[in-house]
Amino acid sequence: MTTGLKIVTIGGGSSYTPELIEGFIKYHSDLPVREIWLVDVEAGKEKLEIVGNLAKRMVKEVGVPIEIHLTLDRKEALKNADFVTTQFRVGMLAARGKDESIPLKHGVLGQETNGPGGLLKALRTIPVILDICREMEELCPNAWLINFTNPAGMVTEAVLRYSNIKKVVGLCNVPIGMEMGVAKLLNVDHSRVRIDFAGLNHMVYGLDVYVDGVSVKDEVISLITDPEKSITMQNIHAMGWEPEFLQALNVFPCPYHNYYYKSGDMLEKELKNFKEGGTRAEVVKKLEDELFELYKDPTLAIKPPQLEKRGGAYYSDAAVRLIHSMYTDKRDIQPVNTINRGAIAGLPYESAVEVSCVITKDGPKPITMGELPVAIRGLVQSIKSFEQVAIEAAVTGDYGTALLAMTINPLVPSDRVAKVILDEMLEAHQAYLPQFSYSMV
Ligand code: G6P
Repeated sequence: MTTGLKIVTIGGGSSYTPELIEGFIKYHSDLPVREIWLVDVEAGKEKLEIVGNLAKRMVKEVGVPIEIHLTLDRKEALKNADFVTTQFRVGMLAARGKDESIPLKHGVLGQETNGPGGLLKALRTIPVILDICREMEELCPNAWLINFTNPAGMVTEAVLRYSNIKKVVGLCNVPIGMEMGVAKLLNVDHSRVRIDFAGLNHMVYGLDVYVDGVSVKDEVISLITDPEKSITMQNIHAMGWEPEFLQALNVFPCPYHNYYYKSGDMLEKELKNFKEGGTRAEVVKKLEDELFELYKDPTLAIKPPQLEKRGGAYYSDAAVRLIHSMYTDKRDIQPVNTINRGAIAGLPYESAVEVSCVITKDGPKPITMGELPVAIRGLVQSIKSFEQVAIEAAVTGDYGTALLAMTINPLVPSDRVAKVILDEMLEAHQAYLPQFSYSMV
């Protein structure tokens, strides 16, 4: 009988893979990973080879007995997996560039996860994740699916509603980034900070913030109004908050809230960046090229610090911390995307929400957060409606449903603009949207 865990990472050729490997190395004494299968598609073959070889060097360097396998054969990889992690991007960075730039050309923020870009990303990604679920049912029915692929909230909900896989958790580094940000701001160890998270992916709020069990929410709220102290991510140009606004809001917003409470300013900034240096996709492409050059170095056997310039910092901490707690039935509290089951009142029972959960071997158990404060409830519900309609469009390939999703997105100003953007985006992404082919003849 073989012992130890089999992990499969779909999108294994991602530049983030060294993050994950570092995490598995760090936790290896408690989390006996036997093999990691990095899977990618033909177009990602070269990147898979480069980052896969770095992964092999990383485990060899520290002498942990983890076998690294590289493959383009997803089915072969999935056989008897214990955990399947997903971090793929359908259409790669070129598709992200279109998600960001087409709306901008029409004076609208693209926002590649919750905005118009997020809609198109969902349309491309959901059919693929549902294929993966069908394969998992057959090849590893007991495995947990840990999804990091964006739009992570919608992908998780699509799996919950439209597949037979129930063992799914959606994961994001935003909450852990917020905790680390608070720890840094208050100069305390991360382990002492806890936040009551409630909301949706990239639309999550800290309802309260504690250090050693004592609320420090007021202090955090007043500190982050200073742009210098604003807690943000590498991919978001945060600008600080109006002190009176934040005090009245009285909860801790996530960096993505800049897109909703500062839409005009964000648009201005993104248009400026677009003209000067391109979209974030182009910035990331340059970073990736540099990273892959580094990864090729046969003497490199650690995660290079340059990876921290990507928005996904702390990904390994979040992912491996979660798998570790599930494997050891640790019952600690972590924020993840999971089925609501009434934890957040006013959001559908069976929808995916991002919420603090107790992590057990049977999965995350959401902590009841009750009703969201009235000032934030509407925005969260409106994004949830957008997500639900977007998921339905991805599954059915129905044009009207896609247009509805685009139009109800809070970043889109009108049905007319929604249609212009949607039509252009459907055409630009045609190769990755077979379910819409009838509407594009
Ligand atoms: C944040 C988000 C991720 C997103 C990433 C983008 O970390 O939580 O969901 O993928 O930023 O970062 P990038 O470096 O690709 O712009």
